[in-house]
Amino acid sequence: MTRETYEAQTAARKAALREKLLQLLPTGEIYKTLEIGCGHGHFLVRYAQTHAERFCLGIDLISQRLAAAERKAQRAGLTHCLFLKARAEELLECLPMGFLWNEILVFYPDPWPKKRHHKHRLLQEKFLSQLAQCVVPNARLHFETDDGDYFEAVCDCVAQHPNWEQTDEHLYTVDTLFAEKTGRNGKHAVFACVRNGEQTAKDTTEQVCV
Ligand SMILES: C[S@@+](CC[C@H](N)C(=O)[O-])C[C@H]1O[C@@H](n2cnc3c(N)ncnc32)[C@H](O)[C@@H]1O
Repeated sequence: MTRETYEAQTAARKAALREKLLQLLPTGEIYKTLEIGCGHGHFLVRYAQTHAERFCLGIDLISQRLAAAERKAQRAGLTHCLFLKARAEELLECLPMGFLWNEILVFYPDPWPKKRHHKHRLLQEKFLSQLAQCVVPNARLHFETDDGDYFEAVCDCVAQHPNWEQTDEHLYTVDTLFAEKTGRNGKHAVFACVRNGEQTAKDTTEQVCV
């Protein structure tokens, strides 16, 4: 594929995603939860059942998993729990102006255990910065993994990041497929962090524009 074709495809995909998000996302004062890498929706459907007042969106890259997640939500009669095929980085880039999440869930993201693949891990400095611009102050990011090295790397990254602070809140019991496996192995690590009051580039831009 040529560079031009690749860029044209990316632009078309993002334009379609922007359009889709305008249709799907709620406007107004409602608590909004995003699960990144929701897989088959095991967690999010259960979460949405106990949080009927929250708008819930699960995203993943794999259509088959999303179809299973949608079936679960439909069977449970949930209209406030939606699933969408999207790459997290692109979803954040394509959110409507002013749309901010209250809570982000990332459970068992692909760990990319080999050192030369660490650059593919989702939770790293660049992504945490992008995320900080798309959430309300005091938003929670909940992360769980069975990969000790990934866990340590994210803890270090959060500790150094100007916009996020680790908290010891552990609100959720995760019962996804991966959590089950982890439970059997008896090793898992979980933490939440909170978006603090530090300004982001977006905050600064908004202030300049006012
Ligand atoms: C290891 S699975 C965990 C699934 C689920 N959270 C669970 O615990 O059962 C990781 C999931 O993240 C999805 N994923 C990976 N990178 C992603 C990205 N950049 N944006 C959205 N989803 C992603 C994968 O398709 C996969 O379904």
